[in-house]
Amino acid sequence: MEKDGLLERLYADHHAYLVTHYESLLEEAGWDGVVLASGSPCAVFGDDQFHPFRVSPGYRQWIPCGDHTSSYLVIRPGHRPRLICHQPEDYWHVSPTPPSGIWTDHFDVDCVSTSVAAAEALPGSLSRWAFLGEPSADVQSRGFGGINPDALVSALDFHRTVKTPYEVECMRRANRIAVAGHRAALQSFRAGEAELDAHLAYMAAVRQSETRLPYPNIVAFNEHGATLHYDVYDTQAPPESLSFLIDAGADYLGYAADITRTYAAADGLFSELTEQLDEAQHSLIASIEVGMSYIDLHAAMHLSIAELLKRFLIVDMTPEAMLESGVTSVFFPHGLGHHIGLQVHDVGGKNSDPKGTVIDQPPSFPFLRNLRPVSVGNVFTIEPGVYFIRQLLEPLRSKAEGRAVDWGLVSNLMPYGGIRIEDDVHVSEAGPENLTRDAFAALL
Ligand code: GLY
Ligand code: MN
Ligand code: MN
Repeated sequence: MEKDGLLERLYADHHAYLVTHYESLLEEAGWDGVVLASGSPCAVFGDDQFHPFRVSPGYRQWIPCGDHTSSYLVIRPGHRPRLICHQPEDYWHVSPTPPSGIWTDHFDVDCVSTSVAAAEALPGSLSRWAFLGEPSADVQSRGFGGINPDALVSALDFHRTVKTPYEVECMRRANRIAVAGHRAALQSFRAGEAELDAHLAYMAAVRQSETRLPYPNIVAFNEHGATLHYDVYDTQAPPESLSFLIDAGADYLGYAADITRTYAAADGLFSELTEQLDEAQHSLIASIEVGMSYIDLHAAMHLSIAELLKRFLIVDMTPEAMLESGVTSVFFPHGLGHHIGLQVHDVGGKNSDPKGTVIDQPPSFPFLRNLRPVSVGNVFTIEPGVYFIRQLLEPLRSKAEGRAVDWGLVSNLMPYGGIRIEDDVHVSEAGPENLTRDAFAALL
């Protein structure tokens, strides 16, 4: 963490919140303490290479550094949190960031040079302690009372949907970084370059390595936009550019941005559809209020999409009948969004209480990841889409409802792939704060 008065103040409050929060959960669950592991790199089978390493999110919530391997955070109520930081003496690789910066004032820090020494530095008697994270062999034998105990994990996950002001500020900054990449990628598309060029333009603008991004960039020209997680990049520009869907984020101290924009190369039906979906997304966000069910927001967006399909004469049915018969799910087959934070698809979206009770998945919305009511402090995405996906359209063609579809119009639109508009929304006391649109506005 660089010198930054605002972030340092916010981090101090965030840390104080975590101390109180963990202490009360540990007391409730009857644990003397908990150890959070950063995790260790995972080798590729049969190879001497490693998969990209990611610090475990629970550790990262406390520790802003993203490269600590085999390190442990020891939380014991009534004591200062203790960081056992693995700092290998290594001339083959760069050593992880040494603990430095204002956040270290909140911890007792012990640096050790081997992963074995890190495990040995854990407290001696652990039978009433919980362990959170991926347990290494060094740790398995230490006699923890519980490894990732369900009750503690559920309670932590449940509460992670309410972000601290520090976490929201990190996501504000992640959004600002990502929109610079979005603008650069759009310039590349407009210049007639290939998907790979647009991806590289994005990377150059955000100045983050691919392994640091919260998820692989989706850079899809034309019909590629109909593959929801299209993540290969053509090296040649298509003969004719029609549309550009980019779903790309950025990281700030472990917190994610997740942003999608869709552009048309020229004016016409697809650009009008894009504009109207953008407006529907914008007005849905404006309608968000504390206490609303996210499932209802998802259903409201299905209705807006049905109205749009009718207005553009793509489907000639009442919007209600389109919803009822599942026709809107052919064009909008994924969920409206998800909580976001330390993970792009953050935890807790389906928990109805801290005990781990899971909310029933509505059968008509099998892919919806957020089933919770809206609360102050939530940060979630709102990402409706309208796509022309062959695998979903073909079965509709042979059904009775298929007769209401203008298949000529659909086949004209299929080469454009699809539209998705995705913003990250913070629910503040004052109402919804659109982290993404604010970041785009600040770019101008
Ligand atoms: N980029 C993944 C998602 O939008 O959920
Ligand atoms: Mn998303
Ligand atoms: Mn996305």
